[in-house]
Amino acid sequence: MIDETAPTLPVGESSSALHRAFGPLLEARRKGRPHIIGQLGLSLDGRIATESGESRYINGTEALHHLHRIRALVDAVIVGAGTVEADDPQLTVRHCDGRDPARVVIDPNGRIGRGAKIWSASGARRIVLGGAADLPDGVEKIAVPKGPLTAKRIIGHLADQGLHRVLVEGGADTLGRFLAEGAVDSLHLLYGRVIIGSGKAGLTLPPLASLDDAPRPHTDTHVFDDGDFLVACRFNT
Ligand SMILES: NC(=O)c1ccc[n+]([C@@H]2O[C@H](COP(=O)([O-])OP(=O)(O)OC[C@H]3O[C@@H](n4cnc5c(N)ncnc54)[C@H](OP(=O)(O)O)[C@@H]3O)[C@@H](O)[C@H]2O)c1
Repeated sequence: MIDETAPTLPVGESSSALHRAFGPLLEARRKGRPHIIGQLGLSLDGRIATESGESRYINGTEALHHLHRIRALVDAVIVGAGTVEADDPQLTVRHCDGRDPARVVIDPNGRIGRGAKIWSASGARRIVLGGAADLPDGVEKIAVPKGPLTAKRIIGHLADQGLHRVLVEGGADTLGRFLAEGAVDSLHLLYGRVIIGSGKAGLTLPPLASLDDAPRPHTDTHVFDDGDFLVACRFNT
């Protein structure tokens, strides 16, 4: 089960929280168990993008490398159609060793056209739930109804494809739906040293009847060398 192409983590005493943060995902890989990990790059005031949708880059280099390490450790990375429209991401592993995960887009209304970078052939699988009629050769389409999909259903579709360790990379809407359903095992919140003050909130969940009902995950905090910091939350492990 050990993947020789997986990235190595930084060493040293100060990185022990970082190693703990990766623990549940590494354990799941070792034991062949499913694991859903979410990530968000946030400003100090909890925004993931400006009002106009700009999110590059809230974080510095270290957090970006961290994100690429997570990508290298999962079978698949999921984004919603909104993120592909706003960022046109590649979702490849470029800042560390390791292989590219399968790229998965949730696009029940077929919003993403054939020119998006996410469809470019790099050897990794490209999968769309829904999807436009005209997409490049090699993009695998999973037929879904046009309405909302439950996280359970999305996870089930990917498990059918042999994809069990999954990074939900964003955006807020996509990750929020997974969290609201209790479908996230770990959540890595990467805080950049910037205050945006308006724009897209990182997490929006259904209103709570009482503060007692708020999730209080176990957390590990790591400060990167460039001053950005990670709050790694564990929910189900
Ligand atoms: N800072 C970060 O870490 C980070 C990461 C990613 C994105 N972003 C930013 O976040 C913004 C985009 O986020 P967003 O929340 O607007 O959009 P999003 O989560 O990327 O995409 C949302 C859309 O994807 C489809 N979708 C997702 N989950 C679904 C489900 N369970 N069932 C059915 N459809 C589903 C829906 O498409 P339809 O509307 O067609 O139904 C939904 O409106 C951009 O500005 C981007 O730059 C920031």
